Amino acid sequence: MNGANQPIGVFDSGIGGLTVVKALMTNLPRESIVYFGDTARVPYGTKSKSTIVKFSLENVEFLLRFGVKCIVVACNTSSSWALPTLRKFFKVPIIGVIRPGATAAVRLTRNKRIGVVGTRATVNSRAYDAAIMRLDPSVKVFSQCCPLFVPLVEEGWTEGDICREVVATYLKPLQKQRIDTLILGCTHYPLLARTIRRVVGPSVSLVDSGEQTAGDVRGVLAGNELLTNGKKNPKHRFFVTDEPAHFHKVGDRFLGKLAGSVERAHPYL
Ligand code: DGL
Repeated sequence: MNGANQPIGVFDSGIGGLTVVKALMTNLPRESIVYFGDTARVPYGTKSKSTIVKFSLENVEFLLRFGVKCIVVACNTSSSWALPTLRKFFKVPIIGVIRPGATAAVRLTRNKRIGVVGTRATVNSRAYDAAIMRLDPSVKVFSQCCPLFVPLVEEGWTEGDICREVVATYLKPLQKQRIDTLILGCTHYPLLARTIRRVVGPSVSLVDSGEQTAGDVRGVLAGNELLTNGKKNPKHRFFVTDEPAHFHKVGDRFLGKLAGSVERAHPYL
């Protein structure tokens, strides 16, 4: 197993995983991070299981070149479809976003009616449903894919009339089901939280799976005696498979300011 002072590896289909990076930086401020965003092949949310699994395997292989001590699968779509295969192929601890999100939602719900929003692939996988059922079989899960949310966020349209209309239209069926908890099951959706909050009102608890995952990462590292004892400032590196300039521009919106270099990676060429 790689040592405690090695970085944490994080991968996503593109930029969205920076919401998870932000949560990791807040919860584990001394840890260094190597981030891999597959911006040349994004989106994953519209692709088939076999493609998502293949891409995810390649992404882990790339991160292992940096001697990472664990891998965080920031992408909900990859976590939904690829986690069992990744854990079968690699020895390094691999943490996904589904179980942490499901656990928080089960803890929060009072009427046992939980909504899940995500990409089409995540919703079709029923990974959140399965994780929630394992925790509490009496909970009812209602899922809704929201394919327009990712482009809205990437264009910076996270507020305003158009955004609100799209959010309200997608969430209507879930509201009809009287959910009291909503899992934001996609890397991009936390950026829509304000608009979602306005649409669903104050009585629905919103769960940011990425934020919850940071707590799980801490637990896994502590359990394996892998929390860093480094005294120096952490060093972060960001790799993308397409033009770094776009990642920089949109990435600042996700992270505030990208604290680290952005490099072009060619892992599968
Ligand atoms: N990162 C993906 C997720 O969390 C959203 C973008 C995509 O479809 O690739 O599901």
